[in-house]
Amino acid sequence: MTRSRVPRGWRAATRAGLAPRLLAALLTVAGCRTPDTPPTEPATATAAAAAAAPLPRAALALGLDADELAAIVAHGPWPPPFRPDPTNRASGDPAAIDLGRRLFDDPRPSSDGRRRCADCHRAELGFADGRARPPGADGRPLDRNAQGLLDARLQRWFGWDGGADSLWAFVLRPLADPREIGTDARRLAAVLDADPTLACLRRAAFGDPRPSGEALRVQVAKALAAFIETLDSPRTRFDALRDALAAGDADPGAEAVARAYPADALRGLRRFVGDARCAACHVGPAFTHGEFHDAGRPYMAAPGRPDPGRHGGIAALRADPFNRLGAWSDAATPDAAVRTRHVMPSHRNFGEFRVPGLRALALTAPYGHDGSMGTLDDVITHYSALDTERLHADGEALLRPLRLDLAARAELRAFLSTLSAPQPAAPAPAPPSPAVAACLLRPGA
Ligand code: HEC
Ligand code: HEC
Repeated sequence: MTRSRVPRGWRAATRAGLAPRLLAALLTVAGCRTPDTPPTEPATATAAAAAAAPLPRAALALGLDADELAAIVAHGPWPPPFRPDPTNRASGDPAAIDLGRRLFDDPRPSSDGRRRCADCHRAELGFADGRARPPGADGRPLDRNAQGLLDARLQRWFGWDGGADSLWAFVLRPLADPREIGTDARRLAAVLDADPTLACLRRAAFGDPRPSGEALRVQVAKALAAFIETLDSPRTRFDALRDALAAGDADPGAEAVARAYPADALRGLRRFVGDARCAACHVGPAFTHGEFHDAGRPYMAAPGRPDPGRHGGIAALRADPFNRLGAWSDAATPDAAVRTRHVMPSHRNFGEFRVPGLRALALTAPYGHDGSMGTLDDVITHYSALDTERLHADGEALLRPLRLDLAARAELRAFLSTLSAPQPAAPAPAPPSPAVAACLLRPGA
């Protein structure tokens, strides 16, 4: 994929109401929109209409040109509106969310009654766990770094290798894997039957009777996924800048907000969307296009045992009875499975991993699929000194060693730090929905 070029003339485009279409085209090029929502008009058609108009004052104040402006604005707005997962009928359901929240923190389903999802996905660390590769139940490290779960709802493939095509299909794996939770339907049934509140929430979300076997595991996975979908990272200094630039001159406060963005971070941001070409992959509101690349990291899970990355992920996805093509999906139409139907393995997928989003990085160190980069400085040093011999022959044409000096590295780091909220916002406890309140009051009813 090459960097998307956007025609000049932001203000005229905005006035003519073309900006949303322009953005739609940009995001489609970046692979950020589903094929079922095509842009109404190709980006080039707006070029003539938009030619040579002056930029909004906020952009002029920062010395941005139209390309930079469009590239920056494409990284928002934040947070994106909630869109229920069509494959999960419990998506967005308050009782399912509450059930998932409780089970996430509950050791009773695990094989030894002691392990919880929250052990490896800690809320105070953006639901990552701070270790390069967390140890499994046998004490040996798992093959990969535990992702933070903030903003997971915006992904289309799950796991570093994209081995699942829905959040709930992914969650079935840690539930079953003996190194993680290691539970089964019998144990889940026992936990639900022994706890009237959990049983009530399950009933409110999925109805009676309680199923057994795979159907129960799927319900539990869908409830956990419904909870994980609620974990949005907070708004940041970057979002204030981005919205000020998007508002244009209609917002009299926009220029002051834009000027308040730190100068070193702004230089880093311009590199990020400019000659460092980071935004070729880390693009869109979550700072990822959601697909897979070889970023030049080593990929040995153990000596002599390479991690196949996306190549193994595609094989797992196609063989998965719980994928979007299967009977466990709740989607009403086959559209929801279009991508899964068309995904094909190719040799270049070896050693590719999902492009991570870049929000809330301050919480989720260490970095990379194997946690082998301890700090953001390590990541930036990696891109600066990149060993192109490591990259695929068929060419990650997007990557080349950047050879950044110390000041340039500090600017990129300053920019990345504006993608984390200075204070992780404590989640405001929302009042329980009627269904949840009823379960809390009279669980047996
Ligand atoms: C022993 C540690 C451990 C436990 C326990 C654990 N996980 Fe994870 N989790 C990981 C690791 C490691 C990964 C990365 C796996 C990969 O990508 O191959 C991961 C990845 C994930 C992802 C993928 C996120 C994404 O962005 O694609 C989700 C979702 C998830 N875990 C949910 C859960 C849930 C729900 C539970 C409890 C049922 C759980 N995990 C238990 C270690 C753990
Ligand atoms: C060709 C696509 C591509 C480009 C261009 C790119 N990245 Fe990445 N980035 C990736 C992939 C893939 C990973 C995961 C690598 C791995 O672990 O194997 C990654 C990982 C990261 C991480 C670690 C995040 C985490 O949560 O683990 C950061 C930070 C990052 N990149 C920042 C940047 C910056 C800054 C630039 C520009 C200098 C950049 N990236 C350019 C694809 C890309």
